[in-house]
Amino acid sequence: MTALLEVEGLSKRFRGLKAVSDVGFAVPQGAIVALIGPNGAGKTTTFNLIAGVFPPDEGSVRLQGRSIAGLKPHRVCAAGIGRTFQIVKPFGNLTVEENVVVGALARESAVEPARRLARAVLARLGLADQASRPARSLTLPDRKRLEVARALATRPTLLLLDEVLAGLRPTEVDRMVEVLRDLNRSEGLTILMIEHVMRAVMALSDHVVVLDHGEKIAEGKPDAIAADPRVIRSYLGTEAL
Ligand SMILES: Nc1ncnc2c1ncn2[C@@H]1O[C@H](COP(=O)(O)OP(=O)(O)OP(=O)(O)O)[C@@H](O)[C@H]1O
Ligand SMILES: [Mg+2]
Repeated sequence: MTALLEVEGLSKRFRGLKAVSDVGFAVPQGAIVALIGPNGAGKTTTFNLIAGVFPPDEGSVRLQGRSIAGLKPHRVCAAGIGRTFQIVKPFGNLTVEENVVVGALARESAVEPARRLARAVLARLGLADQASRPARSLTLPDRKRLEVARALATRPTLLLLDEVLAGLRPTEVDRMVEVLRDLNRSEGLTILMIEHVMRAVMALSDHVVVLDHGEKIAEGKPDAIAADPRVIRSYLGTEAL
């Protein structure tokens, strides 16, 4: 069976630096796959290559068997990939709802259906009561939720999440984990998530891909990855042993 997303031989250099080097992995339809690794490993760059922020130097990215490598971000979004940004960047002067409407307008051409979609997404993320507040007034956990809401409003078949749990307290992490699990289970949303919070990675993911210095150093089931000596050495630390 063809995976929903297939990445092969992906490489990107920034001047001398090999940020991503010959990386390949697949995200099956309906799966939650985690992309982990130390700071600077090339995780966000991999997302940027998938999402069309810049084209890969080498390699292919296929969504449902169709090549999307080198497409501009709005075309990648139209093809069905929604993404969040590691540094959340809502339109601060717009309301929470207006921010999500902007995402929804990627899918809906009229404002009213976009607004309905935005409201449904905000309710899903537990942000309905914040809808009319300016986005800049939100707390960090709510900004993270808004970031997910904006991406979801584009009605993606594949959702790319870049550290949406970073900076959240354990109870807030649990809440977001529940939302993501529910989106995956009840709506069949496929998720590729960059995440440092290992508890969430272990709880949510079916498959884990590990990057280090731009290279894939391991992939497999979460349990096997957590016990892999190479992963422990490069990322998890010996205290995980
Ligand atoms: N636009 C860019 N121009 C130049 N160098 C870049 C650019 N984006 C990333 N890099 C470099 O590429 C390498 C990989 O960065 P990347 O942001 O992909 O890492 P990451 O795995 O997401 O790390 P983190 O966990 O800290 O978010 C780093 O050395 C980074 O400095
Ligand atoms: Mg990053």
